[in-house]
Amino acid sequence: MTKPTTNNVGIPVASDNDSLTIGANGPILLQDHYLIEKNAHFNRERVPERVVHAKGGGAFGFLEVTEDVSQFTKAALFQPGARTESLIRFSSVAGENGSPDTWRDPRGFAVKFYTSQGNYDLVGNNTPVFFIRDPIKFPDFIHSQKRRADNHLRDHNIQWDFWTLRPESAHQVTWLMGDRGIPSNWREMDGFGSHTYLWENAGGEKFWVKYHFKTDQGIGYLPQDEADRIAGADSDFYIRDLWTAIEQGNHPSWTLYVQVMPYAEAADYRFNPFDLTKVWPHADYPLIKVGRYVLDRNPSNYFAEIEQAAFAPTNLVPGIGPSPDKMLQGRLFAYPDAHRYRIGANFAQLPVNAPKSEVNTYSRDGAMAYRNPGNPVYAPNSFGGPHADAAYAGETASAYGVEDEVIRSAYKLHAEDDDFGQAGTLVRKVMDDEQRERLAQNIIGHAKGGVSEPVLERVFEYWRNVDKTLGDKVAEAFGK
Ligand code: HEM
Repeated sequence: MTKPTTNNVGIPVASDNDSLTIGANGPILLQDHYLIEKNAHFNRERVPERVVHAKGGGAFGFLEVTEDVSQFTKAALFQPGARTESLIRFSSVAGENGSPDTWRDPRGFAVKFYTSQGNYDLVGNNTPVFFIRDPIKFPDFIHSQKRRADNHLRDHNIQWDFWTLRPESAHQVTWLMGDRGIPSNWREMDGFGSHTYLWENAGGEKFWVKYHFKTDQGIGYLPQDEADRIAGADSDFYIRDLWTAIEQGNHPSWTLYVQVMPYAEAADYRFNPFDLTKVWPHADYPLIKVGRYVLDRNPSNYFAEIEQAAFAPTNLVPGIGPSPDKMLQGRLFAYPDAHRYRIGANFAQLPVNAPKSEVNTYSRDGAMAYRNPGNPVYAPNSFGGPHADAAYAGETASAYGVEDEVIRSAYKLHAEDDDFGQAGTLVRKVMDDEQRERLAQNIIGHAKGGVSEPVLERVFEYWRNVDKTLGDKVAEAFGK
């Protein structure tokens, strides 16, 4: 026998067919509390969508450390042989929840590790760089990629307006307009922590690191016309692909590598190592293998486990700290703030966000508090409550660069820092002829979708600065 339906407090209900009325044709009674609960709860089913990265999907899995990187970090999850449960959420950036998966956009690659020392989140993208290098520009950048105020349409002209007025975007836009701008699915793309982070080993020695998740499925991309076709035919193409692969036991995996820079080398490295528009060339800092990342379990409830998942760059465990990357510093504010707004003050108590390790906090109460600690309610106290212990916490922090005065300034330029150099290298040295041709056609196609003067002239200049041949080719397509 199937279970009897109840309302939300367990009271058996009589019908999901007929409301309680006076006679078959009479008005509905207010005393039909089940009818009221059902509709009132339905009205409250949605939480605000993420302000960026609203469309996404995810899965559970684990990280298995196969190598020994303990010389660089004491973080428990990266010790040899460690296996840590994990959640990942993939996403696109600019589209709303429900927008087509195959729109050209960077893809989010947000990973939560449920470590023995609390949750560690690595909230990255499928590109190693980003459009801007100061968080004060982020709301303007996102406004230029989302919808216009008047007609509620996305607009290539305002996208190129922002990009060409912010030439630091050139490296990321080269990635975006190339093959990586539309992956074939989430399984066939790499993931990057993108920022520089700080690692600290058991002896207190510090290193700068960048994370790379290399797909074991091989890189795949969709040409623009195929992506456009799929956008109409199956807007949930990536969600379906990931779900089906895992359902069929075809578990996607990535090999995790890090680049490690000795702490002191940051000062004079040829690029500013904290500038998020730059990569560290592998010739300078080769990839060091860490382990294997595998996805083997689909969510059982999308809303509870993916929509309400809260990833934050503030979730850093002992042995891992932030770098002075200004973008990362800005993100340390943005995410927990977004979670309190989007999910509520006690978002960390939801099963998907709660750590597997013990929580001993003096935070209490608030809307929907579920974990309610008893006495004592304050620190310090004389009643044996938990106490903060620097030695136990092993916090990884750095005072890098703090001897300076307080000012508003761009980064100090290192020897080879500029806006276009690395984008040009990507075009000339990394891409082959066919990739270069697709990049040019993607740029031309995108710019022909509504970009007008004076922005158009800046588009030619922007690409000539990246690569003269490429810029001329784009201009030529417009008869310039
Ligand atoms: C100053 C720069 C940035 C700000 C202020 C910012 C802010 C935000 C906010 C408010 C959210 C929504 C969070 C939520 O509601 O759960 C978000 C999501 C996200 N951001 Fe950023 N972001 C910035 C830069 C970046 C960069 C550089 C990356 C990648 C390297 C990135 C990757 C992501 C990802 C992957 C998500 C989705 C997380 C998820 O799946 O829940 N963001 N960002």
